[in-house]
Amino acid sequence: MARITASVYTSHVPAIGAAIDLGKTDEPYWQPLFKGYEFSRQWMKEHTPDVIFLVYNDHATAFSLDMIPTFAIGTAAQFAPADEGWGPRPVPTVIGHPELAAHIAQSVIQDDFDLTIVNKMDVDHGLTVPLNLMCGSPPAWPCPVIPFAVNVVQYPVPSGRRCFNLGKAIGRAVESFDAPLDVQIWGTGGMSHQLQGPRAGLINKEWDNRFLDRLIADPEGLSTMPHIDYVREAGSEGIELVMWLIARGAMSDVSRGAMPDGSPGAKPTVVHRFYHVPASNTAVGHLILENAQ
Ligand code: DHB
Ligand code: FE
Repeated sequence: MARITASVYTSHVPAIGAAIDLGKTDEPYWQPLFKGYEFSRQWMKEHTPDVIFLVYNDHATAFSLDMIPTFAIGTAAQFAPADEGWGPRPVPTVIGHPELAAHIAQSVIQDDFDLTIVNKMDVDHGLTVPLNLMCGSPPAWPCPVIPFAVNVVQYPVPSGRRCFNLGKAIGRAVESFDAPLDVQIWGTGGMSHQLQGPRAGLINKEWDNRFLDRLIADPEGLSTMPHIDYVREAGSEGIELVMWLIARGAMSDVSRGAMPDGSPGAKPTVVHRFYHVPASNTAVGHLILENAQ
């Protein structure tokens, strides 16, 4: 059977993509940020999975106000980098995993979560910047990726609780796929940031670090936090953080306990934790959690 071996959490700031594309990663402003991901790129080389299930948000690139799926699973064979206004980023095409994606769609929809199935979609910085941070800038991404887009742009957005429970269902779905695949689940976006209005530029270091603590040790409790707390404490775009609860819900200490005959797996191991301000308008947070064997 397939297994979720680890979860990765990271911010997706578009200016990080521009810094990579324009060769600015060694500049004094960016150097400390990229240093925080050196461990991660090495870890990724040593723990390259067969598939990454990548939870991210589209920023009105693939979707627009014409159509707003709350949860959308990419089932295509490939996904092109989107044109976000300056032409598509010079990064590799994302290769999908249609068989596993279709299985997860079947399992999760039958488990009462209504996903939108997307057979054609371009992917923006929400997906490509986390891939760069973890994998560098290779000529091809190291493995197939299943894009899973969450609406955190246009209200109403899904609750943390719903995201956490969806993560449990995704964990169950992966572990019932009949092939010995090593699967990682990534939760991306955040941390605190607000891009508009009188509070533009808001950063809340204390709240962000408490979020990281609770995501590790008390995800169930964290999942009950109402969306207004994210917006009040972490800014209007801080709501992107609900996506981290999808990845956390799929870890075996949570998802196995939610199976009918299941006993929870052991707590995951924190192999890396990093937090950095500034990066454009956003506080950057990053965690790698490994599931127990
Ligand atoms: C910024 C952050 C985001 O999450 C985003 O989608 C766009 C811009 C920023 O910090 O500038
Ligand atoms: Fe964003």
